[in-house]
Amino acid sequence: MTDAYLVLDRLKKSYPRAGQPPLQVLNGLDVAVEEGALLSILGPSGCGKSTLLNIINGLDDATSGAVRLAGTEVTTKTRSGVKIGVVFQQPRLLDWRSVRDNVALPLQEMGLPADEIADRVRRYLDIVGLGEFAGYYPLQLSGGMQQRVSLARGLAIEPDLLLADEPFSALDEISARKLRQEFIRIWDETGKTILFVTHNIREAVFLSTRMLVITNRPSQVYLDLPVEAPYPRHPEDDVLFELEKSVTRDFMRMEDQAGLARVGSTG
Ligand SMILES: Nc1ncnc2c1ncn2[C@@H]1O[C@H](COP(=O)(O)OP(=O)(O)OP(=O)(O)O)[C@@H](O)[C@H]1O
Ligand SMILES: [Mg+2]
Repeated sequence: MTDAYLVLDRLKKSYPRAGQPPLQVLNGLDVAVEEGALLSILGPSGCGKSTLLNIINGLDDATSGAVRLAGTEVTTKTRSGVKIGVVFQQPRLLDWRSVRDNVALPLQEMGLPADEIADRVRRYLDIVGLGEFAGYYPLQLSGGMQQRVSLARGLAIEPDLLLADEPFSALDEISARKLRQEFIRIWDETGKTILFVTHNIREAVFLSTRMLVITNRPSQVYLDLPVEAPYPRHPEDDVLFELEKSVTRDFMRMEDQAGLARVGSTG
């Protein structure tokens, strides 16, 4: 049988700690993601979502198990050849480069011609609503604007796989709504695969083709749910709202179970 596009195969990750047993973060994730999916990843703070994206991106190694992307095992030493775009949880902009030059940097590293770079920078800064701010420096921008620069930078390389870590979390609801629409439009036009971490269940329901809820550390998959509603979706759609309520209930049940387990283990 051939692998899915992205496979998490019994993926475990723990971090060593001085004078204590290692901190177990991911505890055996088994997930197969189909090409073209818009997969959202939800889970409590500290459960390992950013860690998971780092491992998929080859920035950190699994402790055991594997990530395979387009048939190649990903490690910090072996990349898959898939073009990956990343929107980190913290914008990670270079303060000494203008907005324009921050977005241009990965394009320059790709060796694109200067006019193509200029075109893409303009296009993606317009998409995130920052066309007028190309000459600004990161420290002259608000937190939400920095986050949008980071999103433009991730999109501008036109990746095959986009890893986005809470890209809309610092935005007001109206700006976030506009960007979610753009995000879906780009995904729909390009057919690329997107993994999307969010704390916002409504956002996950609105955006994704599939939702993955992972538990508290040491984390496992708690819920793996397709979202079958057709696009374009409307944020006020009753079907989506019902799904949001049901996932919220599941999430709370998961947290209650984790709380009981903690009481059980200490009492
Ligand atoms: N490089 C590292 N070294 C040691 N521990 C780490 C490292 N990176 C993450 N951790 C630990 O792993 C756990 C998971 O962190 P991670 O950032 O992946 O969580 P998260 O699910 O993204 O949380 P949040 O929703 O708050 O962003 C945390 O306890 C964190 O302290
Ligand atoms: Mg995180």
